[in-house]
Amino acid sequence: MRWKTFSYSMKGLRIGKNPSIRKSVEISKQATIGDNVNIGENVKIKGKVSIGNNVFVNDGCYLFAPAQVTIEDGVTFGPFAFVVSGDHNLYNTRQDGAKAPVKIGKNSYIGAHAIILKGVTIGENSTIGAGSVVTHNIAPFTVAAGNPAKEIRKLKGIKK
Ligand SMILES: CC(C)(COP(=O)(O)OP(=O)(O)OC[C@H]1O[C@@H](n2cnc3c(N)ncnc32)[C@H](O)[C@@H]1OP(=O)(O)O)[C@@H](O)C(=O)NCCC(=O)NCCS
Repeated sequence: MRWKTFSYSMKGLRIGKNPSIRKSVEISKQATIGDNVNIGENVKIKGKVSIGNNVFVNDGCYLFAPAQVTIEDGVTFGPFAFVVSGDHNLYNTRQDGAKAPVKIGKNSYIGAHAIILKGVTIGENSTIGAGSVVTHNIAPFTVAAGNPAKEIRKLKGIKK
């Protein structure tokens, strides 16, 4: 395990076996992290984030969970992907607004700089294009891209 700047002590953080965590990472104690998870530099994981096994969170990703965010096993994030399960209050931005859980299904691949918004479920083995903004659910085995993200095509079989 590589530790450089890690903003919380291990005490109270539920983290699995064999983690690789790079420098300047912040992880909230509300988060849970599975086995063989690789977390890149400058990643922030805040709030109720559940990360499964064999997940790769690339440099600069921001996972922010006012409502539950579930990242299933085998998910890969490209650099600077952003998952946020809530908004500010649209009439008073100093207050919390709407929130809804987000789920990213197993073995999915989230492209660099993609943004996944509140209430979205991404089905297993799907791919989200770089820079996409995902506002609606994405079915399993689907490549989706754009703003708002739309299906480009289907994937066949299980990713390895
Ligand atoms: C989504 C992705 C996997 C699709 O790849 P692909 O299946 O080879 O798709 P194509 O390049 O053939 O593009 C198909 C169509 O989708 C569009 N498209 C592809 N990626 C897009 C994206 N990220 N955003 C918007 N549209 C996109 C293309 O413009 C094309 O549109 P057209 O048919 O109107 O010309 C790929 O474009 C991508 O975004 N990969 C992520 C890369 C990344 O973030 N890597 C991280 C490295 S650590």
